[in-house]
Amino acid sequence: MADKKYIINYQEFSSPEEMSPQDQELVAAALDAQKGSYSPYSHFQVGAALKLENGLVVKGANQENAAYPSGLCAERTAMFHAGAAYPDVPFDTLAIAGSDHGVLCESPASPCGACRQVMAEYQKKHGKPFNIILVGSKRIRKFFKVDDVLPFIFDSLKME
Ligand code: THU
Repeated sequence: MADKKYIINYQEFSSPEEMSPQDQELVAAALDAQKGSYSPYSHFQVGAALKLENGLVVKGANQENAAYPSGLCAERTAMFHAGAAYPDVPFDTLAIAGSDHGVLCESPASPCGACRQVMAEYQKKHGKPFNIILVGSKRIRKFFKVDDVLPFIFDSLKME
């Protein structure tokens, strides 16, 4: 038996102004993407902005449905759009912002497990890590690879 530790490196900012101009732009794009949220059931508006390695920014927003499981999270709408429209372009950074009844959450909304699993698939597909920025009004967190939001990723039927 061995006791082990899993260390996650991330940065925390108290406002977008502390971030690089490129990241500030993406945070603004994620906030703007919230306008596309269709959330008549939860009233939780989530926007996602996914910057691709070629500089393109693909936006997504949560889309709900009267049959609840038929809806989709903001991050997945953005990632699936990018996967479908730009299949060969790796991801650079995914920014996500969530608001409750129109008010940006103080602590950033954290992606659900299914979205993390989808992030893991694209990281594997493109063979390189990408950044994830979670935007809150009091705190913004930046992670540098999907492993840091989804430790011990399941990404293959071949288990080692
Ligand atoms: N939601 C997202 O779009 N992304 C997240 O990271 C968390 C949750 C959506 C799903 C649903 O439309 C609403 O937020 C409430 O769960």
